Amino acid sequence: MTEDYSAELKVAVEAARFAGEFLRRSFDAPKTVNAELAHDLKLQLDKDTQLLITERLRAAFPSYSVLGEEGETGQMTADAVWIVDPIDGTVNYFYGIPLFCVSIALQVKGKLVLGCVYDPMRDECYTAIAGSVARLNGLELKVSSRRRMAEAVVFIGHGRHDGSGEDGIRRFAHISAQVRKIRILGTAALTICYIAAGRFDAYIENRINLWDFAAARVILECAGGRLEFLPDGESSHTGSVIAWNGALPIHAALQLPE
Ligand code: IPD
Ligand code: CA
Repeated sequence: MTEDYSAELKVAVEAARFAGEFLRRSFDAPKTVNAELAHDLKLQLDKDTQLLITERLRAAFPSYSVLGEEGETGQMTADAVWIVDPIDGTVNYFYGIPLFCVSIALQVKGKLVLGCVYDPMRDECYTAIAGSVARLNGLELKVSSRRRMAEAVVFIGHGRHDGSGEDGIRRFAHISAQVRKIRILGTAALTICYIAAGRFDAYIENRINLWDFAAARVILECAGGRLEFLPDGESSHTGSVIAWNGALPIHAALQLPE
C-alpha cells in the first residue's frame, strides 16, 4: 500500500457526491422509519445510502473493509478500513431541515489518513489527506484565529445517548455566558468542518461515535484545528470530543464551578 492516498480520496469524493445526490433527490419524498428512539431515528435511507457508498468503495478497493453507522463489511482487522456515516444529521434530514452530510474517512493501520464530508444541499465538499491542506470545493481552508471565548461561536452537542443530552445542557448553561453564540446544528461532521472553515470556533459533545467525526477530524487538523477524543471505556469507537480552532482556551472555559 502506498503513502499516496489521492486515488482513495478521489473514490471517496465520488462516492460521497453520488450518495449526497441520492439524498438530495430523496429529501422531499416520504421516508420509511426503521426505528424510533427517544433522541434518534433510523431511516431505511440510512441503510440504502450506506449500501450505495459501500458498493462504490469496495468496487475500487476490494480489500478495504467498511465500518459504518449501519454496519460492517469485510474484516475489521484489515489494514485499510473506510469509516462511513451515510447520513450525519438523520433527524434533521427526516424533519426536512437541510443540514446533514455524507462522511467518509479512511483509516490505515489504525491511523486516519483522509476525510471527505459532503453537504449535498449546499454542494459543499470538504476534503483532506492527512499531512496536507484541507479544502472546500478545492479551495484551501483555515480555522479562525479567534482567541477569546467572548468572540467565539461554539457548538454544544446533544447526543442520542442517555445522559449526553443532560451533559450538553449543563455545558450549554456554563459556556453560553462566556461566548458570543451557542449553536446546535444536529450534525457533528458538518459542525467540525465548519470549524475547519473558520465559521465556528469549537465543538463539544459526549458519547459520539467514530463515524460521526472521523472524516471531519482529518479536515479540521489539516486546516490548523485540533480535536481530542476520549473513548468512554465501553468501546474504542465511542467517547467525548472537543474540537476547536487550536487558539481558544477551550479547556479552561469548560471547567464547571465546584
Ligand atoms: C448524530 C449527529 C448529531 C450528534 C449525535 C450524532 P446521526 O449523528 O452527528 O449532531 O449530536 O451525537 O449521533 O445519528 O445523525 O448520524
Ligand atoms: Ca452520525
